[in-house]
Amino acid sequence: MNRSWTLLAFSAPLVTPGAAAQAPARDLTPPRRTVEVSLSAAPARLELVPGTATDLYAYNGTVPGPVLEFREGDHVVVHFRNDLPVTTTVHWHGLHLPFAADGSPFHLVAPGETYDYEFDIPPGTAGTYWYHPHPNHETGRQVAHGLYGAIVVRAPDDPLAGIPEQVLVLSDNRLLPDGSLDLPDPHSHPALVDRENGREGPLLLVNGRELPELSIRSGEMQRWRIVNASAGRMYRLTIPGHALTWVGTDGGLFERPVEVNDITVAPSERVEVLVRGTDLPGSRLVVFDLPYDRYIPQTRPRLWNCPRKLFTLRYAEGPPTGGNVEPPPVPATLRRVEPLDPASATTTRVVTLSQGLINGKQMDMARVDVDAPLGATEIWEVENIVGMDHPFHLHGFRFQVLDRNGVPEPFPAWRDVVNVPRHETVRFIVRYDDFPGKWMFHCHILDHEDHGMMGILQVN
Ligand code: C2O
Ligand code: CU
Repeated sequence: MNRSWTLLAFSAPLVTPGAAAQAPARDLTPPRRTVEVSLSAAPARLELVPGTATDLYAYNGTVPGPVLEFREGDHVVVHFRNDLPVTTTVHWHGLHLPFAADGSPFHLVAPGETYDYEFDIPPGTAGTYWYHPHPNHETGRQVAHGLYGAIVVRAPDDPLAGIPEQVLVLSDNRLLPDGSLDLPDPHSHPALVDRENGREGPLLLVNGRELPELSIRSGEMQRWRIVNASAGRMYRLTIPGHALTWVGTDGGLFERPVEVNDITVAPSERVEVLVRGTDLPGSRLVVFDLPYDRYIPQTRPRLWNCPRKLFTLRYAEGPPTGGNVEPPPVPATLRRVEPLDPASATTTRVVTLSQGLINGKQMDMARVDVDAPLGATEIWEVENIVGMDHPFHLHGFRFQVLDRNGVPEPFPAWRDVVNVPRHETVRFIVRYDDFPGKWMFHCHILDHEDHGMMGILQVN
């Protein structure tokens, strides 16, 4: 598997003389370090399908862009350069950071310009995140061109440290016979279908490759961090004959692992799973994306209900790890996730999702849709009143789902996106703990977002 780790330039950790002596004795936080990253976005001619060149856009020359790896407590400076022929931004999806670093449509970077994104990684936010462009009306187009990459934030006390990891960035695309991106004329019928469903394609890519091979050893346990970077596609991942141990979501680990047979990953969502290599050395099998009906009947794609191949899992030859095909047990407890208390919420915001609209309105950069005081805890009641799913994302602040259609969530988990299925209502709780500014909330089907299914939360 081509797993491209970025070359990070580490500057010397910033340690103020005497600071360590003043720190409380039980503070195990390692010294804050500054991580500097150079990131560029530029046109690139790459092969998404071997032997066929496609004109794309790429972060640092690769699709997906480099995996950026940070630690809790890091001070991050990303020196970004826009070498594209179009205006862009870099949005750090899910990270809790100052308004000026959010890469939302409020901070555009014109062709030839540079922008420094500067932020700290707060303690307790270890998890899997990702980055992608966010210019108004153009996000889907730029992501389709290849601009997306994963972020891994590590905790000093990770209960799963030492388990081999794979970052799996899932995306899909559609090419014309000559290898160019299939981006239909905006007034054509295919464009209307894309606009309704979110652009999908038959080319399923895992870390930018079609049907790649991933290897595992018998008796080994692996931790997979899965990112859905697709514009509209919902993945329902399954490994025949293997249970998946679901250990985390957008904002990191749960308190306890959950056994599942398949796992659904909505657009922009992330999951962490443990995979136990229980087959014999030398065996191979296909990992599938199972059908998921998120569509309105009028534009439901043909073959939507066929399982699709995602990648091959190949068991290495040779004796099993530890001499036994039975991998080590999964830890029974992972970390504490402090639930936000609904009794502390001061307001409930009702947000109605319809086709292309939020609360009946299209996005307006000059309008504030929700005004909230800094420090407040609030409940958002997101109701989907139409016949297709809409994955709802809030910038800047992670949240905890309270209930779905009135059914209480079984355990607290940190998220920044939640799929709201057709005709269902999801309630979540959020605390605007710092960072005043204007924060987008939107449907993460990129075609919906680009056509105005977005609003603005102002915190101050
Ligand atoms: Cu992943 Cu507003 O974005
Ligand atoms: Cu939507």
